[in-house]
Amino acid sequence: MALLFISFFCVIAISSSVVSNRIGINYGHLGNNLPSPAQSIELLQNMNMGRVKLYDADHEILNHLSGKDIEVAITVANDEISGIAANQHLADQWVYEHIVAHYPSTRIRFVLVGNQVFSSVNTPEDMQIALDLVPAIRRIQKTIKSQGIHNIKIGTPLAMDMMETTFPPSNGSFKPAISDLITPLLKYINGTKSFFFVEVYPYITWFDSQVRNHTAINLDYALLRSRNVTYTDPRTGLVYTNLLDQMIDSVVYAMAKLGYNDVMVAIAETGWPHKGELGANRANAAEYNNNVIRKMTTVPSVGTPARPGVVIPTFIYSMYDENQKYGPNTERRWGLLNPDGGPVYVVVNVTSGL
Ligand SMILES: *[C@@H]1O[C@H](CO)[C@@H](O)[C@H](O)[C@H]1NC(C)=O
Ligand SMILES: *[C@@H]1O[C@H](CO)[C@@H](O)[C@H](O)[C@H]1NC(C)=O
Ligand SMILES: *[C@@H]1O[C@H](CO)[C@@H](O)[C@H](O)[C@H]1NC(C)=O
Ligand SMILES: *[C@@H]1O[C@H](CO)[C@@H](O)[C@H](O)[C@H]1NC(C)=O
Ligand SMILES: *[C@@H]1O[C@H](CO)[C@@H](O)[C@H](O)[C@H]1NC(C)=O
Repeated sequence: MALLFISFFCVIAISSSVVSNRIGINYGHLGNNLPSPAQSIELLQNMNMGRVKLYDADHEILNHLSGKDIEVAITVANDEISGIAANQHLADQWVYEHIVAHYPSTRIRFVLVGNQVFSSVNTPEDMQIALDLVPAIRRIQKTIKSQGIHNIKIGTPLAMDMMETTFPPSNGSFKPAISDLITPLLKYINGTKSFFFVEVYPYITWFDSQVRNHTAINLDYALLRSRNVTYTDPRTGLVYTNLLDQMIDSVVYAMAKLGYNDVMVAIAETGWPHKGELGANRANAAEYNNNVIRKMTTVPSVGTPARPGVVIPTFIYSMYDENQKYGPNTERRWGLLNPDGGPVYVVVNVTSGL
């Protein structure tokens, strides 16, 4: 009886969304001390990961994912975008080599074209890549469709620096400098019922608020731990209990301002560093990631105040600490796993299963 009851709820959740709410993780491998692809895929299975996101479309990794019950997101590199945009043959080649060669035994479900393509549009070269993004996406879509493949969505992960304002959430808007780029992208995503992939880091927003000091954000609120800290958006009256929801909804309202009310959001990256600068420690990282996983895997879905009950596919950042990443020390301290594959800290139903 209890079992029937549970499956009944799952069916409702799935039929209303067609998207699973199993958690995903980013598998980057910019390290010289990391487990092999074969070992890494085994670790993903032990962690009970429902999805994995790659920053490339590595053949060895895709081979090891073959036959596994893990949905896969693969990435087209930024420097491939302009070529593909200009030439259908290059799009065909990319799709044959990285998708057709592995699909369907490897469950490729998302193709992400570029990474943070709108974050740097200061040089003519970068601006050209940004302008070529949607044409490249459309060429890849054309090839995928011509292969009779209908269960792969195409998107592009964007960083929150695309936002002009995020506060209050109802005031969310995109930077005017990229509005000509965002609109064609939203048109494509809306038309194909794909997802608007966003990299959302409450840690960074919280950290900045501490450094700038004038509007310091409560740590519990950033960690999704607060019971009594809430924020009420003065315009909508919606009550927020955590910073992550606030940031997601600011994107929802920014899209609505451009006329796109129904575009679904996916979180391409979110996480909390376990070492490095202020607030980066194992206890906070464990708290944040556990709370995010609990929120995103609850059935029926929790959603956000502006989108209650809506599934938000989410990829935790990141699987490993990557010792060859550039930037401040904190940049290399986001991993759930040590280089030996053991947990850095315990995450429910993820590293506890190792
Ligand atoms: C909304 O954002 C604009 C900038 O886009 C800002 O000038 C304005 O003060 C914000 N409104 C509120 C209520 O914060
Ligand atoms: C920042 O906070 C500290 C203590 O919390 C305080 O001493 C200092 O005056 C604040 N600085 C600013 C610019 O508000
Ligand atoms: C929230 O509750 C805790 C424990 O009851 C208390 O210590 C804390 O000050 C409260 N925070 C706010 C912002 O009310
Ligand atoms: C988004 O797509 C829906 C169809 O799914 C369409 O009815 C709607 O007009 C589109 N929105 C915009 C702003 O183009
Ligand atoms: C963890 O797994 C147990 C048993 O499989 C399940 O009952 C529980 O709901 C899971 N917790 C989360 C946060 O997924």
